[in-house]
Amino acid sequence: MATDRRPENMERIATPAQAEAFIEEQVAEIRGQVGDKKVLLALSGGVDSSVVAALLIKAIGQQLVCVHVNHGLLRKGEPEQVIEVFRNQMKANLVYVDATDRFLDKLAGVDDPETKRKIIGGEFIEVFAEEARKQDGIEFLAQGTIWPDILESENGIKAHHNAGGLPEDMKFELVEPVRILFKDEVRVVGEALGLPHSMVYRQPFPGPGLGVRCPGAITRDRLEAVRESDAILREEFEKNGLAGKVWQYFTVVPDFKSTGIKDDKRAFEWCCIVRAINTTDVMTATVENISYDLMCHITDRITHEVPGINRVLYDFTPKPTGTVEYE
Ligand code: XMP
Repeated sequence: MATDRRPENMERIATPAQAEAFIEEQVAEIRGQVGDKKVLLALSGGVDSSVVAALLIKAIGQQLVCVHVNHGLLRKGEPEQVIEVFRNQMKANLVYVDATDRFLDKLAGVDDPETKRKIIGGEFIEVFAEEARKQDGIEFLAQGTIWPDILESENGIKAHHNAGGLPEDMKFELVEPVRILFKDEVRVVGEALGLPHSMVYRQPFPGPGLGVRCPGAITRDRLEAVRESDAILREEFEKNGLAGKVWQYFTVVPDFKSTGIKDDKRAFEWCCIVRAINTTDVMTATVENISYDLMCHITDRITHEVPGINRVLYDFTPKPTGTVEYE
C-alpha cells in the first residue's frame, strides 16, 4: 500500500473538505489494490468497521461482502441499525448472522469473567470463519485498524486487536483503509461518507458486549434486563443533553436479588447499577455528576419498565479503584 504509515507532516483531518480529499485518495488506492476481486469485512457496527465498510462500498460496491455477527450481546437496536444503514440505505452486500442461541448456549452456566470473554471471542471467530468459507473467491480481508492500534502494538502496549485470529488455512491480504487515521479523523471521514451521526459518534462498546455487564453466569432474562435498562439510560441521556458530554455510560445487572414491593406484593428482584464516567485515556476515570432529579427519574423508569428490576443503584467509584466495566 502506498500510505502504509502516517506521514510525519500529515495534517489532522478535521473538515469535510479534508475528509473528501482523503476519501478520494483511498477510493483510488483500494481500487488499485483490490482490482476486481472480493473483500470480506466483519462489520460490528462500531465506528471503525462502519467507516471501513462505507469507504469500501464507495470504492468497490458489491465486491465487498460484509458479515454482521449478532452474538446476542449487542445493545437494543444495534443489529437493526446495521441492517438499515448498510443493506437498505447503502445497498451493501451484507450477510446477517443471528448467532444468539449459539453464543448463549455456550455461555450458559459460565460465571468466570475470563472464560466468558474467551468463549465470546472464540465463538465469534468460528462463526465468522464459517461464513467466510461459504463465500467464493474472497482474496482480501478488510479491517478497521487505526493509527493508535499500530503505535500501541509497535510499542508493546497491547497486541494489535485486529491482527490475526482466523484459522491458519484462511490467508487473506489485508485492506486497511483507515490505518493512518486517528479516531477523531475516522469520525470526520465517516460523516463525510454519509453515516449517521449516532453511529459515528457512538460511545465505546466492548467486544464481549453486554456479556460483561451481566456479571456472573448470563441468563436470557437478566441479559434482557441489562439491554432494556441500558436503552432507557441512553434515551434519558440523549433527552437531557448528556449523550455527547459523558464519555461512557451504561447499566449493569449483577446476579443478586433483594426484597422489594411491586403492586403491593413482595418482589424479590435484581438491582440495576448505573455507571457514567468521564476520561481522556481510559487509564483513569471520574464519575459524572448526574443530577438528583434525573437519577430519580431514571430510577422510576427502570424499576417500572424493566421486568425483574426493583432497585437502581448509582456507582460512585472512579477508576482506580474500579475499572470501567464490571468484568
Ligand atoms: P476497563 O473496564 O478496563 O475499560 O476500565 C476500559 C475501556 O475499555 C473498554 N473495554 C473493552 N473494549 N473489548 C473491548 O473492545 C474488551 O474486552 C473490553 N473491556 C473493556 C471499556 O468499555 C472501557 O471503555
